[in-house]
Amino acid sequence: MRILFLDQSGKPGGAELSLMDLAKPYGDRCLVALFEDGPFRQRLEQAEIPVTCLLDHGMKVSKDSAWWQGLGSSGDLIALLGKCLRLSRDYDVIYANTSKALVVGALTSWLSGKPFVYHLRDILSREHFSQSNLRIAVTLANARACAVIANSKATREAFIQAGGKSERCHVVYNGFDPAQYQAEPGKVEELRRNLSLSPEQFVIGHFSRLSPWKGQHVLIDAITQISSETRSRIVILLVGSALFGEDDYVQQLHSQVNAAGLGDRVQFLGFRSDIPQLMSACNLVVHSSTSPEPFGRVIVEAMFCGTPVVASQAGGAVELIEPEVTGWLSPPEDATALSQLIERLMGQFQQVAQVAEQAEHVSHARFHLGQTRKLIQGILNNCLETEVS
Ligand code: UDP
Ligand code: GLC
Repeated sequence: MRILFLDQSGKPGGAELSLMDLAKPYGDRCLVALFEDGPFRQRLEQAEIPVTCLLDHGMKVSKDSAWWQGLGSSGDLIALLGKCLRLSRDYDVIYANTSKALVVGALTSWLSGKPFVYHLRDILSREHFSQSNLRIAVTLANARACAVIANSKATREAFIQAGGKSERCHVVYNGFDPAQYQAEPGKVEELRRNLSLSPEQFVIGHFSRLSPWKGQHVLIDAITQISSETRSRIVILLVGSALFGEDDYVQQLHSQVNAAGLGDRVQFLGFRSDIPQLMSACNLVVHSSTSPEPFGRVIVEAMFCGTPVVASQAGGAVELIEPEVTGWLSPPEDATALSQLIERLMGQFQQVAQVAEQAEHVSHARFHLGQTRKLIQGILNNCLETEVS
């Protein structure tokens, strides 16, 4: 089977990293077509996954503007459609990995007659999308997608709520390769030394791009509410960069950290590629998104690393963690609840270690990459069979 994958981003966000894992086994039988150039293209090239960039400039369409108008008026839509149509001749199926790729992919499928699959990685609700974009997304998915692959029950439910057809929408969780998350203890110790982390310190890691809805500010706020004696043991690692240009938020975070007198306890590490080592160097990973997270790769990655994880109780995160069994959930945007939870966990060393161990075990069974690939291959096979019959 030959697959033409479409993705709107040149940056390595969670949707793109998940796509790499899916595309890898297809080798030369697939092509990843990006709507813009960027570091994600280099990551694909390094992994020897065929890639091409369809536009030589970034797309200027935000989630809130009407895609139709934005894509159409700039001429991007015509350019993207022309290129995708030509490319699609060499592939059996068109696979959209993001919401704007859905628009281009569905129209290409309509013009070319090729089967179309949409990987739904967003919560299609008014919180994230304008009414017109929601309508476009659902109409195109209903009209053209032989299957919609939802990355969680939460994304599937929002899709159906917005008018999406339930019978074609299948939940497939993101998968991970366990071997990639086995960090060598020597390397982890070296990393802790390089980051000047002493064994007595309690290291809390936050692994997300710096963006208001990822809620780094909630974690900082929570730390300020912890008793000063306990707080003096804590170090925070903020891992990630402002991938989509949220520079004001980065400034705001620095000001918040300085105003709280936490300048020597919070390290901004920027975008990193050694996530498994960094997560293994942490005593706790905190996910504090303020909006429902569609899935939340970082939550499962922490589980694979055997690091205890707390996540915001909303969206897909609720499906990933069984509270007190494989991790902990905390109400979104509630810094006080988060501070109390962190303080409690810091005092329960043994129970916390047991939960992390259990989470590692469960993650292998629930989120193994092999299983994810198999499920998606099955869905693609069905699509092709249905098209032929
Ligand atoms: N990540 C990374 N380097 C960083 C910060 C994050 O490689 O500095 C990775 C992280 O390990 C995860 C992905 O980026 O695999 C983020 O995915 P997630 O689903 O958690 O959130 P998204 O950014 O897609 O909303
Ligand atoms: C999107 C979502 C994120 C999810 C990722 C992979 O980027 O925001 O929650 O983990 O896709 O499916």
